[in-house]
Amino acid sequence: MKIFSGIQPTGAKHLGNYSGGFRQYAATQEQGEAFFCVVDLHSITNPHDPQDLRERTLDLAALMFATGLDPERSTVFVQSHVTAHAEAAWLLSAVTSYGQLGRMTQFKDKAEQQEFVSAGLFTYPVLMAGDILLYQTDIVPIGDDQRQHLELSRDVAERFNSRFGETFTVPRGVYPESGARVMDLQQPGNKMSTTGGNPQGTIYLLDPPEVVRKKVKTAVTDSGREIVHDLNEKVGISNLIEIMTVASGESIAEVEKRFQGAGYGQFKSEVADAVVALLEPIQGRYRELREDTAELERMLARGAAKSREAAAPTLEKMYDRMGFTRPKGV
Ligand code: TYM
Repeated sequence: MKIFSGIQPTGAKHLGNYSGGFRQYAATQEQGEAFFCVVDLHSITNPHDPQDLRERTLDLAALMFATGLDPERSTVFVQSHVTAHAEAAWLLSAVTSYGQLGRMTQFKDKAEQQEFVSAGLFTYPVLMAGDILLYQTDIVPIGDDQRQHLELSRDVAERFNSRFGETFTVPRGVYPESGARVMDLQQPGNKMSTTGGNPQGTIYLLDPPEVVRKKVKTAVTDSGREIVHDLNEKVGISNLIEIMTVASGESIAEVEKRFQGAGYGQFKSEVADAVVALLEPIQGRYRELREDTAELERMLARGAAKSREAAAPTLEKMYDRMGFTRPKGV
């Protein structure tokens, strides 16, 4: 089984990223050959600061190891270190429909918020399709907000296969049972997000304990006092229940049962404790890893070498099937 996922190095990572991303990476690495990628090429599709990108790339790599990726088991690397990704994106743009790209909700939302809309923001899902398809990926652990992009990757794979012959495995998305879409604590109608969210409603993975506690305690809740999961009537409490499942490993039903008869105040304070207990060891490991930049860079260099080797045969196949001549050895 081949596993691939990617995560952007821009912005501070939050509990939503942990739920849909990091924790699923650590869990799925046990199931086969796993590749996890810091997708720095994706991060230039929105206005960015070069110095910031450099720092954030290393921060994110440290966080990936701190949340449980094992460098002996998983290949962790930076997208721009493996040039096959940019090449694959160009080749796949020939089998990606302009109309389908225009229907991507993330593109529409982000384009609306910006005056300058880069071409890269529009073609972003083609790069993502290349990331996944280069590794003959079977499963892609992601959060719910990436569902539409994953569907597009599947369509691209199928179109390429039918036009040029069987080349790609058609990948399948893997979503968490609960916590696939962690919502903003202040605006529980919106997902927790680096770019569009409210910082008070976003739990960052590096928030100190007192900040986490304050954010959870001031979370917007619904009328009534029952701790029950009800996405129509109780979006705020349902979100806190899902956050509890992420932090404690319980199911939604187990959390509901444990807090039967408890009030919102007590529930919130226990959710806060559980999140603090989840984040503290991650933060400790993160600080240690981040101190040794040279070692992190060595780990990423090893990851890049392995990824280059793994991606090369598929890229060659793509060029060949599409009719490109290839340089012969000198
Ligand atoms: P990114 O960097 O925005 O997010 C990384 C992961 O976090 C998940 N996520 C969430 N999960 C639950 N609740 C939330 N509120 C929440 N917010 C974010 C995302 O679903 C994602 O799994 N396009 C991708 C990066 C990418 C990629 C890939 C992913 C590039 N190439 C190939 C998979 C495979 C992105 O921007 O994720």
